[in-house]
Amino acid sequence: MKAEADPNLIVYFGGQYMPLGEARVGILTHALHYGTGVFEGIRAHWNESEQELFLMRPLEHYQRWKDNCGILRIDVPPSAKELCSITVELMRRNAFRTNVYIRPLAYKCAERVGVSPDDEDAFAVIALPFGEYLHSENGLHAGISSWRRIEDNAIPARAKICGAYVNSALASDEAKRNGFDEAIFLNESGHVAEGATCNLFMVRKGQLLTPPVTENVLEGITRDSVIELARRELGMPISERAIDRSELYVCDELFLTGTAVGIAPVTRVDHRPVKDAGIGPVTHKLRQLYFDATRGHLPEYRKWLLPIYHPQHEQAWNSIRQEEMHTT
Ligand SMILES: Cc1ncc(COP(=O)(O)O)c(C=O)c1O
Repeated sequence: MKAEADPNLIVYFGGQYMPLGEARVGILTHALHYGTGVFEGIRAHWNESEQELFLMRPLEHYQRWKDNCGILRIDVPPSAKELCSITVELMRRNAFRTNVYIRPLAYKCAERVGVSPDDEDAFAVIALPFGEYLHSENGLHAGISSWRRIEDNAIPARAKICGAYVNSALASDEAKRNGFDEAIFLNESGHVAEGATCNLFMVRKGQLLTPPVTENVLEGITRDSVIELARRELGMPISERAIDRSELYVCDELFLTGTAVGIAPVTRVDHRPVKDAGIGPVTHKLRQLYFDATRGHLPEYRKWLLPIYHPQHEQAWNSIRQEEMHTT
């Protein structure tokens, strides 16, 4: 799905809330020419029965964003907590009562020619109503990309660096034109890395497997949430280890994870069925758990959710986070 951009949406830009249609950058902006920006992707899910909108792990997203901005030496002055408050205000001003995707973007903003970046930085936070990103209800058909995942010593894949997404765009375009729903990247050592915009998990011989963060993958927050859910709720052994391409053809279950895609089952890879081409039991359970956790149905995972509208929900979240700070 491609999110439509209504010019009347309120965005946070240049330290102010303003209509999207008025938030403009100059044609010589450094990031536009050289890809020198870092973005984030955060979701908020609408809970109809509670009439509440829940932001999913915004503190972790903003902390990751700030840390990764450091790779490009982009300064985002507000703290992760202050960025959460800006986002809550943004959601309230838009009065969203639907699922929303939040796109923070920090970038080198000097307007001049020359690749070497200076210290002029800017950031914005954009929020858009957003439905399903990939229609994965019945399982996806993924294809191994002929493009390799970027290496850490070229452009770090662990950060959402704007310029690095040329790698994902090439793979995604190739996959779609070849009739696949999503691309799977191998890295330069030939191991499975991840999808074009998502991490990858496999179930094999009763174990949940995913490539380690040193295999040129984005350090996904959904990946982290899935590991916690699988460990705590399913009691599954989890191994972060290198995965061979051919293991994709002989595994029991395969799925992709990400803020935009959620948990998306892959039922065919390179024209081969994954097991019997159905959605396996582990994928099915994790999907349900993730759905329930992100909508606030599971009390133990309310710690992940920042509520937008009800002050008593917000107080509860603050006290959970306070407690966590004291116990970690
Ligand atoms: C390349 C890539 N891998 C993985 C992910 C998943 O990360 P997260 O779960 O934090 O959204 C993304 C998210 O956009 C991504 O772009």
